[in-house]
Amino acid sequence: MKLLVDTSFSLLFSLLLAQLPLLTSTAPHNHRRVYDLEKLTNQTRHLLKLTQDLLVDHVIDTEIEHRLKSLPAMTNRASDLSSLKLKETLPQLLVDLQSFELHFEWLSRASRKHRHAASLNLAKLGDLISLIKTFSASLQRQMLRVDALRLPSPTPSLPPLPAAWDMVQSSLELFQRFRLFCDWATRALLTLKSKI
Ligand SMILES: *[C@@H]1O[C@H](CO)[C@@H](O)[C@H](O)[C@H]1NC(C)=O
Repeated sequence: MKLLVDTSFSLLFSLLLAQLPLLTSTAPHNHRRVYDLEKLTNQTRHLLKLTQDLLVDHVIDTEIEHRLKSLPAMTNRASDLSSLKLKETLPQLLVDLQSFELHFEWLSRASRKHRHAASLNLAKLGDLISLIKTFSASLQRQMLRVDALRLPSPTPSLPPLPAAWDMVQSSLELFQRFRLFCDWATRALLTLKSKI
């Protein structure tokens, strides 16, 4: 009887041992990754909300002309959601985000110059830029955790500081395109999280 207990105990013990690598590495690892992706998703939702606020405040509400050729191209992305890979998506999100950051800083400088004509809420734009910086730092931390390779930093060639009316139009285009980016990024991160 004692032998039987011992055997079943050691059987149980070895089963537990066999599970141990799973319990210690994979499971917490996955939990961590789900948590990190949830945090990133929360950040893109927050960015989306702020961008929508800035759009609601905007003086004009028309279809945009595509003037800012330097903005990241976001074509045909929705269809590729199911084939996304974490290690490829994070670096792509980062370069697009960095490009938008440069555009928003450019817009902020232009708005200060045309303060009289700018209907932009500069405080809100400042909030948006600092939120972008926080999100960018989170993305870079996450890329390090998953060993994702960095893509070269974007160097968009921005037009010289625009005239007041051009600026109004450019800001509209920038907000609309960034809203699209945030929306896509949120969907992409949710899809990646669901695959873990
Ligand atoms: C994300 O946001 C939700 C809702 O606001 C919150 O309950 C959750 O704790 C947040 N998650 C992370 C990881 O920040």
